[in-house]
Amino acid sequence: MSTTHPLFKKHIQKASRFQLRKPTPKKTNWDKFYKLSSNENMMGASPRAVKALQQAIEGVYEYDFYDDYQFQDVLADFYNQELKSGQFITANSGVEVLEIICRGLVSVGSECIISSPTFSPYKNIIELEGGVVVDVPLNTPDYSYDVDGVLAAVTDKTAIVFVTNPNNPTGTYATKAEFERLLDALPKDVIVVYDEVYFHFVDADDFPYAKDYIKEGRNIIGLHTFSKIYGLAGMRVGYGLTTPEIGEYLNKIFRPFRISTLSTIAAYEALKDTEHVKASQEMVWEGKKWLYDKFQEAGVRYWPSQGNFVMFKSPINSIELTLQMLDEGVMVRPGDNFGAVGCTRMTIGTQEANERFWEVFSTFLNA
Ligand SMILES: Cc1ncc(COP(=O)(O)O)c(C=O)c1O
Repeated sequence: MSTTHPLFKKHIQKASRFQLRKPTPKKTNWDKFYKLSSNENMMGASPRAVKALQQAIEGVYEYDFYDDYQFQDVLADFYNQELKSGQFITANSGVEVLEIICRGLVSVGSECIISSPTFSPYKNIIELEGGVVVDVPLNTPDYSYDVDGVLAAVTDKTAIVFVTNPNNPTGTYATKAEFERLLDALPKDVIVVYDEVYFHFVDADDFPYAKDYIKEGRNIIGLHTFSKIYGLAGMRVGYGLTTPEIGEYLNKIFRPFRISTLSTIAAYEALKDTEHVKASQEMVWEGKKWLYDKFQEAGVRYWPSQGNFVMFKSPINSIELTLQMLDEGVMVRPGDNFGAVGCTRMTIGTQEANERFWEVFSTFLNA
């Protein structure tokens, strides 16, 4: 197909296309399928959200009365008014918040720093605005954050530094001291997009939270989603949190009734579902310990994680491993697509899912 129509924008033509297809297992003779490939909440959706959705379904003939402004107010109350309405960017998913951010802040030729291996859609979203991706990889072999490398890569064209904390797929994190060193040294016009969508699963004491720096007036946009701990990945709802100045600017990128009625209703209820949040955290923290023990006993290299997933070294080619595990009804994700070649990432599941993962995975050890 021709891609040379005169109206086509050069930077969109050149952008790398993000693709994600669910692979199909060749065998299906397993009792139960475990999808441990997308870091969803294996405990399921917030029951409060599900109940509210069931009650709200017949109202979908109307436009969303619970519009973005009301969502802002709900979030401000959720943050005990420490952040105010107008400091949030509400959207259909974290990814859409990233699109709004890049649409508002990235110009053709702007440089955006990312640190691979990391969440792959950043690249595409930056390139669609004509931005240039500058990759400053995490330090190997521990995948720690390279503060000095990032600072050295900053130029007068740098618009955004993306910090993914905890990082996907490695599960590793930049400490408070590292993050503050970065913030203190960055030129004042550079904006940090601080993607902390997995923050609920963090158990480290020295983890930096976006909210604290926003309150200090730093140029930060935190990224949150309802896809992870709240178990609402299919509803597509997320938000950014930022300073009043950045919020006012980015909220100009608005369209009426952006988020569906059902998504906002589910989000409001999920925010109140502290029981579900707590139970999900416990499932992940317990599962993580169990998996670490298994990896250690078997001598498999893994990276301690602050997310609801663990990345480990694949005993065989990681794409081959994922395909073969898929045939046994366990879906995990090769790290190769993220830049972690030879590694595999699994979502921490229920104990039953973790055991089934281990049962299948361990057949590849010493094979
Ligand atoms: C690091 C990171 N950021 C953002 C997202 C976006 O989540 P969503 O678009 O479902 O809100 C994900 C999803 O996996 C992620 O891993």
